[in-house]
Amino acid sequence: MNNLIITNARIVTPIGHSARKGKEMSKLLLIERGTIEVKDGIIVYVGEEKKHLGNDQMKDVRHYDAKGRCLLPGFVDSHTHFVFGGERAKEFSWRLAGESYMSIMNKGGGIVNTVKATRAMDFDTMYDRANKLLRRMSRMGITTVEGKSGYGLDCDTELKQLEVMKKLNEKLDKRVDISATFLGAHAIPEEYKGKSDEYIDFLIEEMLPIIKRKKLAQFCDVFCEEGVFSVEQSRKLLTAAKEVGFALKIHADEIVSLGGAELAAELGAVSADHLLHASDAGIKAMADKNVIATLLPLTAFALKEQYARGREMIDAGCAVALATDLNPGSCFSGSIPLTIDLACIYMKLSIEEAITALTLNGAAAINSADKIGSVEVGKQADFVILDSSDYRYLPYYIGMNCVGTVVKNGRIYEIEN
Ligand code: NIG
Ligand code: FE
Repeated sequence: MNNLIITNARIVTPIGHSARKGKEMSKLLLIERGTIEVKDGIIVYVGEEKKHLGNDQMKDVRHYDAKGRCLLPGFVDSHTHFVFGGERAKEFSWRLAGESYMSIMNKGGGIVNTVKATRAMDFDTMYDRANKLLRRMSRMGITTVEGKSGYGLDCDTELKQLEVMKKLNEKLDKRVDISATFLGAHAIPEEYKGKSDEYIDFLIEEMLPIIKRKKLAQFCDVFCEEGVFSVEQSRKLLTAAKEVGFALKIHADEIVSLGGAELAAELGAVSADHLLHASDAGIKAMADKNVIATLLPLTAFALKEQYARGREMIDAGCAVALATDLNPGSCFSGSIPLTIDLACIYMKLSIEEAITALTLNGAAAINSADKIGSVEVGKQADFVILDSSDYRYLPYYIGMNCVGTVVKNGRIYEIEN
């Protein structure tokens, strides 16, 4: 039953069907005693309390009293790597002892370590593990997630990761929608050591056509980083991907300032992600060309790196999205509460900006702002209802969940905190 009437909700939402940039990010609509009507999982009414609810024809309607609690759009986590094999707890302990992420990678650990485990894991085990992670994320209010391949780096395993996401997305009772991204250019696999140009050609000639034909990913992404893929290699891959119809994302300027943000603007990428070391020119280019700056503060925290310049990016007119970057290496966390805290405390976003970044701008970062990301007529009924009437509880609860109820496609899930 996906017909629902929610009454007595304190509704807080950004408004629009595209990313909000700069000053617009802090504008939220507030409805004190709001009513929402949902038909077949889609919002058909949002507004002040109605005396006569216009749902007489609607059969099987569930009535839900939000009791004055705050209702927001479901969170859209627009950058994750949640499908993988193995784990890297040992590497985390090395990092605590002072080793850097890149030095671990250079001595054969890092992404390539997860690649071995992902190649070895069977489909069903990978599906079950990914499904469990989605459950955990859903309890924190995530109703849509972007997920990347990139731990296969060969044809069979990249396809296995993407097929796992496809199957999870086809589940009828799913709590989280999935947008898939092909990240074959995540690292150079052992078989191509010293031959990264050849690996890029392999991705272009063999992988992109199969993934396109099987409709397994909407986006193509690349880890554009010193010692991984250069700006030239990233440009070559992404240009080829664009030609066959992929939308583009870039892991940009994470460890060093390489010009990834500028490349994203040049190619018309939907988003550039990480951006810890994005240059002033890169920030301006992203604002000018409407590239969404997707910031991942949990990763900067876990790697003890500086935070991306979120405040400056918004002041420069960028649209900023926030995401968790959940992955087995640099950041094993899907914590929305901590993401919000770090964004507000260290990147100096206002609470309102952080909400827009995790909802409408996250939706825009996966080309879905027409369907999700705000509480508006015509959009999917994906909501979070907090334990409080006050949305300022989101950063106030440090790393603790204040989501009491999740609504996914008009279905209600109570969360035990
Ligand atoms: O987004 N930076 C590259 N990729 C991931 C890390 C992947 C890993 O370490 O397994 C990231 O942080
Ligand atoms: Fe990432």
